[in-house]
Amino acid sequence: MIRVLFVCLGNICRSPMAEAIFRNYVREAQLEGKIKVDSAGTGSWHVGKPPHHGTRDILEREQISYEGMKARQVHKEDWNSFDYIIAMDAQNMDDLKDFFQQEEGPVVKRLMEFVVDPAELDVPDPYYTGNFNYTYELVSNGCKNLLTYIKEHESI
Ligand code: 4NP
Repeated sequence: MIRVLFVCLGNICRSPMAEAIFRNYVREAQLEGKIKVDSAGTGSWHVGKPPHHGTRDILEREQISYEGMKARQVHKEDWNSFDYIIAMDAQNMDDLKDFFQQEEGPVVKRLMEFVVDPAELDVPDPYYTGNFNYTYELVSNGCKNLLTYIKEHESI
């Protein structure tokens, strides 16, 4: 089983969007039995809450399920429970580094690092920008490329 954890700040906008979109790509590729997907936030403000209404609107428009998803905070066991920890921006990367303080372990990268010539390396936070459509475009493209990368590198 390949285990993928998406991480953002609040776990209500970007990383739940990525989790739902990536799970949908995994389902379409019939890889549900081989890839496990989750998301978490570096912050704790929204623990237990469903995705932000802006993220829910986008997912409903795209007919992508977010059923049962609830925000949680990153915890120490995640380091050994995931093969890929995929951050949305450089601040998440810094926070993860400070939190885990480990070198050996999962692949820890920003989502847009999997895209060739990305428009942005950081996924802008729609909690502040209000632009959930643009976030969706970046996250959707990033997730597609991440799945291609995992299929190529994990012999699945
Ligand atoms: P996210 O967006 O990291 O994409 O989930 C945010 C959501 C909430 C907050 C910050 C970012 N907040 O400060 O409450």
